[in-house]
Amino acid sequence: MNAQRKQIFAGNWKMYTTKTEAVNLTIGIAEGISKTEREIVLFPPSVYVTCVITACEGTPLKVGFQNMYYEREGAFTGELSPIMINDVGAHYVLLGHSERRHIFGETDDLIHKKVVAAIAHNITPMLCVGELLEEREAGKSESTVEMQIVKGFEGLSAEDARKVVIAYEPVWAIGTGKVATPQIAESMHAFIRKTVQKLYNDTVAQSIPILYGGSVKPDNIAGLYAMPDIDGVLVGGASLKVQSFLDIINVTL
Ligand code: PGA
Repeated sequence: MNAQRKQIFAGNWKMYTTKTEAVNLTIGIAEGISKTEREIVLFPPSVYVTCVITACEGTPLKVGFQNMYYEREGAFTGELSPIMINDVGAHYVLLGHSERRHIFGETDDLIHKKVVAAIAHNITPMLCVGELLEEREAGKSESTVEMQIVKGFEGLSAEDARKVVIAYEPVWAIGTGKVATPQIAESMHAFIRKTVQKLYNDTVAQSIPILYGGSVKPDNIAGLYAMPDIDGVLVGGASLKVQSFLDIINVTL
């Protein structure tokens, strides 16, 4: 962590929870936050976002959607627009999560259009990047992630680039229990920051929060968060239980 940058702890609930569980999880998290300087963001299943936003009233918690389409409205069955996300009062959107890329075939081009649309509607895009195991084994981790960053930020002004939050999630670490070591994660975070610096400048690179995601748990958060370029985490499985998520978001170094 580097206190100059915004610190963000996010929970991606994926396609889990019932409505009651989602509300109870929200209330439990809101009651247990002790580090108020950290931004806590919940990404519930879209159908529960409004209930979660209601449960967050009067708390510092922020809420986001796990996905979005880039058009304002239209004949796009099953999709949600940035206008709708604004309408219900959500602040963030996860874009390019590895499950969207690899199960639903989202391309860098599509993800880029979504990033642009989110910024145009004052929604903070949390752009997820990360290499597959075979890419890591072939020595292509950095080139893969670099391409995802370059395409994701294509054409964004420096001012708009500063509105993006990046989440580095090595695909081999997601839901597998195989967390990246703090050194592996830090090395990629530093590389991502250098990539942003090359695209823009040092001010932009130093201001963008870069979160780590992939099997983050209460017992490995301290090592990861101690790294200078890790500005928070995006948590899947461990964000579904009040106590384990609180143990992560309240970590002390
Ligand atoms: P995980 O998921 O923490 O369960 O590995 C992380 C993510 O997919 O964002």
